[in-house]
Amino acid sequence: MDFKNEKNVFILEHPLIQHKITRLRDKNTGTAEFRKVAGEIAMLMGYEALRDLETTDIEVETPIEKTMSPVIAGHKQAVVPILRAGLGMTDGILNLIPAAKVGHIGMARDEQTHQPVSYYCKLPDRIGERTVIITDPMLATGGSAVDAIRFIKEKGGRRIKFMCIIAAPEGLERLHTAHPDVQIYVGHLDRELNENAYICPGLGDAGDRIFGTD
Ligand code: PRP
Ligand code: URA
Repeated sequence: MDFKNEKNVFILEHPLIQHKITRLRDKNTGTAEFRKVAGEIAMLMGYEALRDLETTDIEVETPIEKTMSPVIAGHKQAVVPILRAGLGMTDGILNLIPAAKVGHIGMARDEQTHQPVSYYCKLPDRIGERTVIITDPMLATGGSAVDAIRFIKEKGGRRIKFMCIIAAPEGLERLHTAHPDVQIYVGHLDRELNENAYICPGLGDAGDRIFGTD
């Protein structure tokens, strides 16, 4: 699939994002720096992904005169990290839209089968009225993202954006095919999956690197 021609796939090639992804890839980057940089990348990606947010005009008085001026319609968004690693991107997005509600979806890949297993799902109310921004640094086989989005749609979610820092071509194609209506934002499209369904060159296990586990 040629992702460049897909209207709902956005592969961000901004040099600031690429520079920070290099920091994440480096196996010598420690937990504290990894967490900080993952949050910074999420914020930079959010700037692009939130380009079409709804605004509403309010009256403001400048030193010169009164005027109507736009503000973000804050109650209309929900950020939903896929646990655990998606948590590492949440604050970066909330820096941009602090009034957003936050939901959580717990998914863990079985280490043998690489199939996602769901263990938690708690979403904000009136999810169908919100723009839902799902965060997960890694889109590998795509299984976790496909299932997470299915759960959100089953609860009424309609306007959904998915943000990942690194994607494998296999996972991106699977996700876009399963949910063509979902806007997918990718920090970098990597080469391939290896036999353990890890992204190559990737950055290793994102959850372990964010939380210092192994
Ligand atoms: C990682 C990652 C994604 C998933 C991607 O989570 O954060 O959720 O794997 O793989 P997939 O596209 O093949 O489904 P993991 O299951 O390792 O859980 P964790 O975040 O708790 O470490
Ligand atoms: N999950 C990760 O954290 N890293 C990968 O490369 C694949 C899945």
